[in-house]
Amino acid sequence: MIEIRNVSKIYPNGFRAVDGLSLSIPKGDLVVFIGPSGCGKTTTMRMINRLIAISTGEILIEGRNNQEIPAEELRRNIGYAIQQIGLFPHMTVSQNIATVPRLLEWDEGRIRRRVDELLELVGLDPDLYRDKFPRQLSGGQQQRVGVARALGADPPIMLMDEPFGAVDPITREILQDEFIQIQHAVEKTIVFVTHDIDEAIKMGDRIAILRDGKLVQYDTPETLLEKPNGRFVRDFVGADRQLKRLGLVGIRELLDKQVVRVYMDATAAQAKEVMEKNGVRSVFVVERETDILRGWVNKEALEVADSLLDAMHEAPYSDIAVRERATAREALSAMVARGFRVTPVVNREGRLVGTIRLEAIQELAIYNPVVPPQALGEATLNE
Ligand SMILES: Nc1ncnc2c1ncn2[C@@H]1O[C@H](COP(=O)(O)OP(=O)(O)OP(=O)(O)O)[C@@H](O)[C@H]1O
Ligand SMILES: [Mg+2]
Repeated sequence: MIEIRNVSKIYPNGFRAVDGLSLSIPKGDLVVFIGPSGCGKTTTMRMINRLIAISTGEILIEGRNNQEIPAEELRRNIGYAIQQIGLFPHMTVSQNIATVPRLLEWDEGRIRRRVDELLELVGLDPDLYRDKFPRQLSGGQQQRVGVARALGADPPIMLMDEPFGAVDPITREILQDEFIQIQHAVEKTIVFVTHDIDEAIKMGDRIAILRDGKLVQYDTPETLLEKPNGRFVRDFVGADRQLKRLGLVGIRELLDKQVVRVYMDATAAQAKEVMEKNGVRSVFVVERETDILRGWVNKEALEVADSLLDAMHEAPYSDIAVRERATAREALSAMVARGFRVTPVVNREGRLVGTIRLEAIQELAIYNPVVPPQALGEATLNE
């Protein structure tokens, strides 16, 4: 746990870059600092690892005042990926990444294995990149080497200052996902700075919103989106915060598992019978043995066709269904794009596992109405 207690950074000109900041970062959590440029994010990070001196207040790391922790121990326990990348230009990629392991006098074999492992982790082929110099890399590649270097000796604490800022959106998403995985596996305590609210929402266990060196709100992404504590935060998270909130909800809890279905090899008459029995006007069509989704069929089409296959609307499941690990936001987006009021949901193999109604997502989105429920008319409530 990192505890920041009433910490300020006051420059000689009297400017308060950080102003009475207090917050605790629980062990194993990833906490995102976000806020306008100049609000004190980098300064706060650098006070944690003592690259910048604290003016007043204190920072405790696992209960110990960080001023009393030997520099060597701080360096070993806190990985730091700095905002401007800051690779050593005269060293190769591999030498850069090996900086801390070398200080710790790891043996050469272990260092080499670690370097390759980290290069792979950040998506750089070790054989192509380990002997290159920073100037031979693009900005985004340098940034990834910077992240690998910060992870070098597997420190329990990581300070990451806009680590994916210079990376294209696709690679960025891969790195984010990788990082979330690492985080779940090894439970590092991470302070992560970003300017991207979507990245903050995706990555953060908690998000600290800073402004003019002060903490404005410190909450989980869910709470921040549901209950921004004022205009500044509301503007900061964006007008589409309800949509963003849907991005945090998995569809599993909305899933309707009772799906009426017919098999591909059914006759038109059998399909009609299933519809009548269930009182529906269309059903999904699946393969018999596997339950893999193959399309759907409407009652009207069956009336005029000779067989189920003639009548059915056939399509690959990837075109008509959403995956069961999708978020409510992704499901909504797919439904809007396809014009569906109900979307089928499939597992990884394409097996139909349920459906989701558009209204179920809608209810989720407006569960927190501005008008108190008792003020709504009966008709609205019963709709
Ligand atoms: N030596 C200094 N003297 C006076 N002010 C300084 C000094 N160094 C930094 N500052 C100011 O401290 C404030 C906080 O800087 P900091 O680098 O922490 O911002 P930041 O939140 O990381 O911004 P960004 O998002 O742009 O990286 C800035 O307004 C900066 O101009
Ligand atoms: Mg900064």
